[in-house]
Amino acid sequence: MSARSILITGASSGIGRALALAYAGPGARLALTGRDQGRLESVAAMAREQGAEVDAGLLDVRDQAAMAQWIGAADARRGFDLCIANAGITTGLAPGELHEDPEAVRAILSINLVGVLNTVEPLIAPMLVRGGGQIAFIGSIAGLRGLPYAPAYCATKAAVHAYSESLRGRLEPAGLSVSLVIPGFVKTPLNDSIEAIKPFEISDAEAARIIRRGLDRRRAVIAFPWPIYLAARLSEILPARLVDKILSRIEVKAPKTRERVG
Ligand SMILES: NC(=O)c1ccc[n+]([C@@H]2O[C@H](COP(=O)([O-])OP(=O)(O)OC[C@H]3O[C@@H](n4cnc5c(N)ncnc54)[C@H](OP(=O)(O)O)[C@@H]3O)[C@@H](O)[C@H]2O)c1
Repeated sequence: MSARSILITGASSGIGRALALAYAGPGARLALTGRDQGRLESVAAMAREQGAEVDAGLLDVRDQAAMAQWIGAADARRGFDLCIANAGITTGLAPGELHEDPEAVRAILSINLVGVLNTVEPLIAPMLVRGGGQIAFIGSIAGLRGLPYAPAYCATKAAVHAYSESLRGRLEPAGLSVSLVIPGFVKTPLNDSIEAIKPFEISDAEAARIIRRGLDRRRAVIAFPWPIYLAARLSEILPARLVDKILSRIEVKAPKTRERVG
């Protein structure tokens, strides 16, 4: 059965926006967060037009206290049956660059990893009390194997994968459901900022459709597209230096994030 009361972080753009619109409909209650007021309000308005009841929260996922307060209050009004920890940024290296800016590395860790903790932690206890609920993490194919042009991004996604697997083993016997989403290339502003060949790229609406179907079925792992997922999994068993060599031949220009800590 599809979830009805849903929290989505990073709903003002890309995959989060498409998920909000995929779930919006009569009877659905959506709690949508982001930082850009104009974009978030426009998604909220579209979701309302589709019949959903919408709470929109302008929140930085790094703000632990504000996240706990807003999510806790929204959950108390109507318990969430699905939380999608989606908000994230990217940062990386251009050809010839050999190391990442330490400030950019800390910014991405605080958004892509600590921001995910700030999203799900406030809901674990109330969901356990209710004896049900679903938590979904948006990971990445880049979390399966370190890529030479995005060290910190890969590290954050690998950490999210490990965290979600640990929670799945611990929380599912207690009645919660935990899903890890592993997308390949999805056409969004984040993805558009990276110059590279993007095999099997899909639209954000198509990604949202696949994710929703997987979440409805309570899949442990929702990975797509399968050829890229298979290649990434295979790379785990091939000799490490052979994979390094293949990956280093792919020309990628990944921009440095302008996000900074503090
Ligand atoms: N697109 C892909 O190919 C792809 C592939 C694999 C995984 N992913 C993952 O999918 C997720 C969504 O990415 P996307 O491609 O949809 O990117 P996007 O279009 O750039 O959207 C990112 C969303 O995250 C929000 N966000 C970023 N930093 C935030 C912060 N500090 N506090 C609160 N919200 C913040 C943004 O909100 P504001 O703009 O309002 O700040 C925006 O709504 C990310 O976790 C990304 O790593 C994407």
